[in-house]
Amino acid sequence: MKIGLVGTGGFSRLHAGLLEKMKDVEISAICGRSTRKAEEMAAGFGAKGYGALKSMLEAESLDAVYICVPPMVHGVIEEELIQRGIPFFVEKPLGVDDELPNHICELVEERSLITSVGYHFRYLESVEKMKDLLRGSKIGMVTANWSGSMPEVKWWRDNNQSGGQFVEQTTHLVDLLRFLCGEIDEIHAFFGEGHLKNVYENVTVPDVGSVNMKLKNGAVANFSNTCILPAGTGDVRMVFYTEKGILEWSPKQLKCIEAGRDTIYRFHDNPYLKESEIFLDAVRHGKDNGILSPYQDAVKTQQITHAATVSARDRFSVKL
Ligand SMILES: NC(=O)c1ccc[n+]([C@@H]2O[C@H](COP(=O)([O-])OP(=O)(O)OC[C@H]3O[C@@H](n4cnc5c(N)ncnc54)[C@H](O)[C@@H]3O)[C@@H](O)[C@H]2O)c1
Repeated sequence: MKIGLVGTGGFSRLHAGLLEKMKDVEISAICGRSTRKAEEMAAGFGAKGYGALKSMLEAESLDAVYICVPPMVHGVIEEELIQRGIPFFVEKPLGVDDELPNHICELVEERSLITSVGYHFRYLESVEKMKDLLRGSKIGMVTANWSGSMPEVKWWRDNNQSGGQFVEQTTHLVDLLRFLCGEIDEIHAFFGEGHLKNVYENVTVPDVGSVNMKLKNGAVANFSNTCILPAGTGDVRMVFYTEKGILEWSPKQLKCIEAGRDTIYRFHDNPYLKESEIFLDAVRHGKDNGILSPYQDAVKTQQITHAATVSARDRFSVKL
């Protein structure tokens, strides 16, 4: 299979590193903001570098394309691929807000195109195990936390380019909430700022967020996130409270707390590899069976994170 990548940053390299080890898969082309950057990266993978998407698509006959660009860059890339009927894997988030992703979603549907979105947590063994443990339980409440430091890339600090931490990172946990517990009915968010503006230049993203959600099944969820921590510090976890006990999840560990008994499960799998293998298998066979986050589903997560942004900005609760 001949694969093209768009983007020459950290995550394009992560996917390329996995793709180059796969059987029957060839990285044929890489497209960057400049031909020089693309050629530099492409040289390491025996591929050809391009500075413009159209030139890459006209010159190559690609079976699938990986889109690994920041949130504000989406739109033209997806439209071009949909028009040509080329299946794509796209990194989350799908955009800065939900307008463009809703439009792209309609085009994907019209064309019945195979797509996969980089909500890799869905492919974790810890999540599969948690799905099993939650089956048949009454979920009363979920708490979720994404805390970390400010990423070094400039686009991330600009709310108009990244959408802020809730849209850019906490989205992974919002997506997991939907995957494990069902759809969200109402959302009320508070975002706070003040510290990071004094540390870095041109910061317009909030420092912290506290977001409450009511689910359609009656459960409630509370999310907290912050990017004010020093580099190398952080935490990503969710806690599920059910009538059977407490389930504490982090990507590599699951702790099940029941009356008189605690059980800890540990995991060492690579979800990025699994999501790619499943996507490419779907492309190979022309069937999207097994893809856990197609564009049509991921767009719903984008609608929730965007609703949180609207709620925090306009100071009201958003009914979905
Ligand atoms: N699933 C995950 O766990 C995970 C982790 C990290 C990043 N990501 C996502 O991957 C995406 C890219 O992140 P990254 O860390 O690689 O960012 P990055 O800043 O390292 O790289 C972004 C790349 O996008 C390309 N680019 C930027 N503007 C462009 C433009 N106008 N036209 C064409 N290309 C352009 C450039 O090649 C640049 O190198 C983001 O959406 C991010 O959220 C996902």
